[in-house]
Amino acid sequence: MRNLLNQWLQPHIEALGLEVGAANLKLVEIGASPPTLRGYAIRPTPHGAIHGGNINDPSLIAAELREMVAEMQTRKKYVVASVSNLAVITRIIQVPKMGEKELEEAIYWEAERYIPFPIDEVVLDYEPLDPLTEVPDDAQVDVIIAAARLETITQLVETLKEARLEPVVLDIKPFAGMRTVENYLSGGSNDGSEPVTVFLEVGAESSSLVLSRGTRLLMNRNLNISGNDFTEAISKSFGLDFDSAEEIKRDYGLATIPTEDEESLLDFDADRERFNPARMYDAIRPVLVDFTTELRRSLEFFRVQVGDIHIDKGFIAGGGSKLRGLPGILGEALGLQLESVDPWAGLLINESQFDVSDLHNMAPEFTVPVGLGLRGVNPLD
Ligand SMILES: Nc1ncnc2c1ncn2[C@@H]1O[C@H](COP(=O)(O)OP(=O)(O)OP(=O)(O)O)[C@@H](O)[C@H]1O
Ligand SMILES: [Mg+2]
Repeated sequence: MRNLLNQWLQPHIEALGLEVGAANLKLVEIGASPPTLRGYAIRPTPHGAIHGGNINDPSLIAAELREMVAEMQTRKKYVVASVSNLAVITRIIQVPKMGEKELEEAIYWEAERYIPFPIDEVVLDYEPLDPLTEVPDDAQVDVIIAAARLETITQLVETLKEARLEPVVLDIKPFAGMRTVENYLSGGSNDGSEPVTVFLEVGAESSSLVLSRGTRLLMNRNLNISGNDFTEAISKSFGLDFDSAEEIKRDYGLATIPTEDEESLLDFDADRERFNPARMYDAIRPVLVDFTTELRRSLEFFRVQVGDIHIDKGFIAGGGSKLRGLPGILGEALGLQLESVDPWAGLLINESQFDVSDLHNMAPEFTVPVGLGLRGVNPLD
C-alpha cells in the first residue's frame, strides 16, 4: 500500500544523461523498462571552454548543448549530469551508528576536517555505504562524503539552465560509469561471493580508480594522469600544437614497446616515418611510467585500507583508454586484465536506427554518459 501511494506522489521524471567533459560533450537518452537507447549526441568541447574542472565559457557550452538537444530531437529537458573529478572531493569516513538526523549533523562536523575550503562555500552530500538497518548497533558506519565548491556547482547548473536543461541529479563520474556494469557487479563470483572489482576511468583531464565488492564501494581515488597528458607529451616531443598532437596521438599513438613487426609495417609515408612507433613510444613513455606508478601506489593504498583482498576483475573505460595498448600496460601494473567496458551492452538497440559500429567505437567515452542516463530512468533516490 505504501509503495502504491509513493508512486502516486512521486511523478516519474525521466532524465537524459549528460557529461560535460573537458574533451567532449555527450548526451544520451535512454527509455525505461527495458532500458532502450533512444538517442545520443557527442561534440568536441570548444577548446579551452573547460579547464581544471571549471567551465570558463558557460555561454559557449550552453549553445553547443542546445544544438545537441535539437539534433537528438528529444523533448526531455531534465538531465542527470556529472561533476568533474577535479571539482569534487570524496572521502570515506567512519562514524558510530546513529539515527539519520544525528548522522546528518555529525557528517557536517566531520566534513569540516576533511575539506580544504570553508564549509559554507561547499555543496556537501553523503551516503552510508551500507544500509543503516544492516549495521549492528555498536558498530561503525562507513559513509562516503562528497564535497564540491558551491561556485563550481552553481556554474554548472547555470550553464545547463542557459541550455534550457534542468539538472535533477549531479553524479560522480566513475560511480556513474560503474552503473553500466552493474549486472556483473551484482552477480556472484564462482564461489558465490560478491566479486571484487576495480574500475578505471581515463578521461581527458582526469582519471579515477574505484574498488568495489559487488555494488558496494570500498575505495576510490582520483589519479593525476589522463588523456591530455599523452597529448601534451606528443606535443612537446614533436613540437606540435595541442590539436595537431591530438590528431597524431589518435593516428599513431601507442603505449606498447614497438615490435619488429610494427616497424616493418612502415611504408615510406613521411608522417609514418616521422611518427614511427619507436619515436612515439619514446615520447609517451614518461607519462606511462607515471601512470603505472600511480596505479600501483593506489592499489597498495587500497590494500592498506581494506586488507589484502583478491581482485576478481578489472574494467577500463573513458576515451583516454583508447590509446593503442594502454589497457594492457595499465592492467599489467595492476596485476590483472582490464576489460574495456561496453556501455551499450545493457541497452536494447534498434539496429536500423543506430550504426552499431559507431556505437562500438565510442563505447569508452560513452560509459559515463550512459551510466548517467541509466540513473535518469531508474527511480531517482
Ligand atoms: N583513438 C584514441 N587514441 C588515444 N586517445 C584517444 C583516442 N580517442 C580519444 N582519445 C582521448 O580520449 C580523451 C577524451 O575522452 P572522453 O570523451 O572520455 O573525455 P572527457 O569526458 O571529455 O574528459 P573528462 O571526463 O576528463 O572531463 C581525450 O584525451 C582524447 O585524446
Ligand atoms: Mg569523461
